[in-house]
Amino acid sequence: MEIDPLLFEHLERRGQSHLFQFWDALDALERARLLSEIQAVDFDRLHGLVTRLVHAEDVDLDIEPGEIEPIDVVRLPETDGERALRRRSAGIGGDMLASGEVAIVLVAGGSGTRLGFEGPKGTFPIGPVSSASLFQIHAEKVLALSRRHGRSIPLYIMTSPDNHEATIRFFEAHDRFGLEHVRCFMQGRMPAVDRSTGRVLMASRSQLALTPDGHGGVIAALASRTAEGAESCLEEMQGLGIKTVFYFQVDNPLVRVADPTFLGLHREHESEMSFKVIERLEPEEKLGVIVRAGGRPRVIEYSDLTPELAARRLASGALALWAGSIAVHILEVAFLERLSRDSQLPFHKAIKKTPHVDDRGVEVRPEAPNAVKFEQFIFDALPEAGRALVVETDRASEFEPLKNAVGPESPATVHQRMSDQFGAWLEQAGAIVSRRSDGSVAFGVEISPLFALDAAELKSKIEPGWVVERPVYLR
Ligand code: UD1
Repeated sequence: MEIDPLLFEHLERRGQSHLFQFWDALDALERARLLSEIQAVDFDRLHGLVTRLVHAEDVDLDIEPGEIEPIDVVRLPETDGERALRRRSAGIGGDMLASGEVAIVLVAGGSGTRLGFEGPKGTFPIGPVSSASLFQIHAEKVLALSRRHGRSIPLYIMTSPDNHEATIRFFEAHDRFGLEHVRCFMQGRMPAVDRSTGRVLMASRSQLALTPDGHGGVIAALASRTAEGAESCLEEMQGLGIKTVFYFQVDNPLVRVADPTFLGLHREHESEMSFKVIERLEPEEKLGVIVRAGGRPRVIEYSDLTPELAARRLASGALALWAGSIAVHILEVAFLERLSRDSQLPFHKAIKKTPHVDDRGVEVRPEAPNAVKFEQFIFDALPEAGRALVVETDRASEFEPLKNAVGPESPATVHQRMSDQFGAWLEQAGAIVSRRSDGSVAFGVEISPLFALDAAELKSKIEPGWVVERPVYLR
């Protein structure tokens, strides 16, 4: 097999012809693999990204701070009237679930480097008593909701090429946790480039260094046919009569999956994309912030927020840009289709340590970040939405993600937060739960979603006056 001169010339113009430097030493199989990886890359687009994000200064925050204002948010209900309106929304959301209009999309393609866990993050055992995995907890919520509303709710899981097979095997080994419809679909990849030269790094003499294209890759991945030519997830959803998608990240076991109130609010506002937010407590908190920028709603990632903007305060002393995204969204299927057809989300850069081979073919394990990776973020779809909605939720009851091995947002904090929440549910149901002097629950308490999805359901299942003094797992 010879190198196609036109392809070589194209790469040369884009400064990437080194990808063929080991060609003569490769066997037929290696050549075929290298060629297919090269052909899958859009080198013109990559060149644009390298020019803008590698050679030029970072332009991620491309708007004047003076044009950034707080966003309107549907705040937590405080009055009886507001609570009644929320109940009405919950009824509408319940009807959407019962009529089979809703599917769930779980993004789980990330590599979970900060957690330092081998294998898909969703397989991490997080239940404080049961050691149930993140995937099990999420799947049981979907099953419990399906049973409650008398309709099977399809679950779509986005994986990356690095964890796709392992994720499928995990679900198969657990009989899909009893779910009828689980489909794993793979996100795309982008080449990683050298941070000083912009040249694509090679993972070996016959492979590019490819990394997942960010959770924004979900749009293209949902719209893509499989390698075998089977229908795309969006096509399948249409066939099933699904209009609305509930989207969430794998790392937060407290998430209220397909929360009927949120679904109902989304529908009542005729929103195309909705966000759940919590109040940011500190300027440094690692949450994307939803703002109005130049009149349009948009999310600014925490790493792009200038310290002045992050710390801007109102006269009351509260943070002005307080609406922190917990990465829980609802999107209309028609909106996803429009995005996949007509728009391309911008790419952001991340500077990372990426092993590769050098120009002599020798393996390099860098000590310092050497590469730029390119990622799309789903929240960049917000400005494209015809109508959008931002709804506040309560941090304690809905947000404690697993990001790190130790310290904040680690297994220890997640266990405690889960036990505190389930302890509070038990107390609302009339049980007596031992607490430490700081108010935290003194031992592991866990309730499977299949036993009770919320405090109200738990009430009908336990005896008031039950004294809980040791670890308990209700299933
Ligand atoms: C993310 C959000 C942040 C939000 C916070 C809430 C981004 C860039 N930031 O931060 O605004 O406030 O969560 O917890 O999203 N994933 C993929 N494919 C990829 C990359 C990621 O599926 O290529 C998935 C991961 O599996 C995970 C989720 O996306 O479920 C979040 O990814 P991560 O990179 O951990 O985002 P954070 O920096 O934690």
